[in-house]
Formats: sequence, structure tokens, C-alpha cells
Amino acid sequence: MPNPQTLTPYDIAGRLLRNRLAVAPMTRVSATETGHVTQEMARYYERFARGGFGLVITEGIYTDQKHSQGYPFQPGITDDQQAQAWRAVTDSIHAHHGAVFAQIMHAGALSQGNRFVDAPAAPSALRPKGEQMKFYYGEGQYPLPRAMKEEDIADAIEGFARAATLAIESANFDGIEIHGANGYLLDQFLTDYTNQRNDRWGGSVQARISLTLEVIKAVRKAVGTVPVGVRISQSKVNDYEHKWAEGEQAADVIFGSLNDAGVDFVHVTEHEAWKPAFPSGQSTLVSLSRRYAPQVTLIANGGLHTPEHASSVMEEGADIIAIGKAALANPDLPQRLARKEPLDEFDASILGPIANIKSSELTLA
Ligand SMILES: Cc1cc2nc3c(=O)[nH]c(=O)nc-3n(C[C@H](O)[C@H](O)[C@H](O)COP(=O)(O)O)c2cc1C
Repeated sequence: MPNPQTLTPYDIAGRLLRNRLAVAPMTRVSATETGHVTQEMARYYERFARGGFGLVITEGIYTDQKHSQGYPFQPGITDDQQAQAWRAVTDSIHAHHGAVFAQIMHAGALSQGNRFVDAPAAPSALRPKGEQMKFYYGEGQYPLPRAMKEEDIADAIEGFARAATLAIESANFDGIEIHGANGYLLDQFLTDYTNQRNDRWGGSVQARISLTLEVIKAVRKAVGTVPVGVRISQSKVNDYEHKWAEGEQAADVIFGSLNDAGVDFVHVTEHEAWKPAFPSGQSTLVSLSRRYAPQVTLIANGGLHTPEHASSVMEEGADIIAIGKAALANPDLPQRLARKEPLDEFDASILGPIANIKSSELTLA
């Protein structure tokens, strides 16, 4: 049985969603080489709105023509032409009464394909753990990044703000999700071992979250009252098991300062969101974010496609459930839940570029 609460409407900062089911952001490396959205991508995204999702959060979109691009074929929103290309996506989602938020991201040290600059830029000149993702056309070690100077940081903040303006004004998105999770630039600043700076951007958790707070401030100033939020995780694409070094105390500082920064929503993601966030203690990241950020809309993600797990995090205060892989397998998941129909199993072969999805499934309704 579905949790009927997921199928009830929800008002997020003045934007009414028809239900509380969102598609989680998923990179598909399916744009043109110059970062423009294609018609095929529009049809891919449209399926989720047609299938009943109240909200679609896009894949991570790079923000500037400097260091932000993470992958070849990643879509960008760095100029009006790229922004206009997104209209095909936003129009098709709106046509099915869905809402769509742009996830804007800067890859930082995890850039493995940037056509504007050679070396990635990061908080500190440290080679990232792990290996580049083959899936996103990378191979071998990550390149050694250079440490960002003050002007690079100012450029990155400005890039987020400009991308947000383009997303709202030119591309007609309904809201902005700032990507502060999964090991990318903002998370690199937040993480103790990737941020070894001695200036105002490094040191305590409060100092390490300050770049995210500056980006929020700049984005808010740029777009006004439309929904603005941030995605937060402990895990990283290149460090799956990472836990915040300061444990629950970090959660207090991070979620407390996001709450005070006036974001409309916080989107927390854990692999299994219903499990305790730290080896010691029973609290989940959902309950910690609810406790320390009491005023925000809380989006929860991570294995929450089963009604039991969705209910359990909603009881802890989540307002919206974001679904990743199960949404790929079931673009009509909300309709299936409403009709009490079973879900199709996720099959990894549908990962990878959209071109791998059978063209018959991308046909317009
Ligand atoms: C193919 C793929 C691409 C992803 N790309 C992104 C991304 O661009 N931005 C992001 O924040 N998370 C990304 N994620 C993580 C998902 O948003 C989500 O957190 C993860 O799949 C766990 O949720 P699930 O258990 O519902 O699948 C990606 C996941 C997958 C499977």
C-alpha cells in the first residue's frame, strides 16, 4: 500500500505541487558536446511528469564557462542559448502539470571533462580519492586540481547566481536546487580532508559551509522569492562511505546555518535514508535535518521507493520523497502507487546515456 500522504498536494514556497513525489537529480550525459539540451532529453524528462510526479529535479547542470563542467555531454546553463534549450524540458513538464527545478552544480576537483579549462579547480590542491567514473567518459586517476584563489571563488559564486537567473528568467524553471552534495565543489569545501585552507573558507564546520551559504545568498538575491534549496549528503561519488568527521555536531551547524540562510528546502540524500546517519546514535539524516532546520521543506532521498521506507522518513518530518533509480525504471511510479500496481525492478542497463533507452519509450504521449 502506498503511503497516501505522498499523493497529497504540497505547497513549496508558493509553488503548489500536485503530490509529494519528486524525481531525484540524475546525470545522463546526453546533451550535445556544447552543453545544449536535446529534444530526446525533453522527451526523457517529460515521461516523469506524464507519469504523475509532482516535481522533477534535473540532473546537475554546470554553471559557468570556467571550472564548473564535470563531464563531456553534461548540459550547461551558462548563457542564454543554453538556457533557451532547456525550454523544451520545462515546457513539456508544465504541459503535464508538473513542476521542475534546475539542479545547478560546480564539479570542482571531480571534473573529468571540461572544454573550457584544462586543470580542475578545488578548495585545496589535493588529488581526489578514487578513480574517474567510466560511466561519464572518465578513466584512471582524477587530475590534480589547483587551489582556488579568492577571485576563482568569487567567479564560482557569480556563476551559480547567473545560472540561477538564466534558469528562472530564460528557461522557465520553477525553482533552483544548489548541488551541495556528493563530493562536488561545495561539498569539497565542506569536507575536512578536501578543504585544507587556512583562510576564511577553511577550518571549522561553520567556515567550511560558508561557501554554500554565500552561494545561497547570491542565488536568492538573483532570483527573488522562487523556491531555492540545497542538496546535502555525507556520501560522495568517490567516497561512498564518508561520514562527517564531527558527527551530529556537524549536522547541527550545517542544517542550522542552512535554516538561518533562508533556503526554502533542504534535500538530504543517504544510501538508505531510513538508517542511522552515524555509527554511534540512532538519528537518521532526515531527523537531524528536521531537528536543526525546522523551518525548511525537507526533501528526503535514498532507497525510498517502497511505501514502508517513505512512511518512515515522513514520520520523521520529510515533506517530499525524491526517487532516483526506481523512477528510471518506473517513470509512472506515482500513477502506479495510486492504482496500487507493483513497480518494475530497476535494471542497471537503463543507466547511461538516454540513447540507451528504447526509443519507443521516449515517444510523446
Ligand atoms: C545515473 C545516476 C545519475 C545521478 N546523477 C546525480 C546528479 O546529477 N546530481 C545528484 O545530486 N545526484 C545524482 N545521482 C544520485 C541520485 O539523485 C540519488 O541520490 C541516488 O540514485 C539514490 O536514490 P535512489 O535510491 O532513489 O536511486 C545520480 C544517480 C544515478 C543513478
